[in-house]
Amino acid sequence: MEQRKQPYILQEEPGVKYYCACGLSGNLPYCDGSHKGTGKHPFKVEIEEPKTVAICGCGQSKNLPFCDGTHTTL
Ligand code: FES
Repeated sequence: MEQRKQPYILQEEPGVKYYCACGLSGNLPYCDGSHKGTGKHPFKVEIEEPKTVAICGCGQSKNLPFCDGTHTTL
């Protein structure tokens, strides 16, 4: 995942989301298929109701793909 020291704050609508796990996507934090050949796969998350989510941008969260605040220690 890319090195960024803050999460992506997103207002998500219900549906299945694929968040990038390899950091190569041209559409971060979403998967754009760029992981092919890396052995990594996107995080699949089902959003059941409209809500705000914080997706980790630093790659160090222990609860990926979500931010757990670890970025504040970097
Ligand atoms: S952005 Fe990675 S833990 Fe917050």
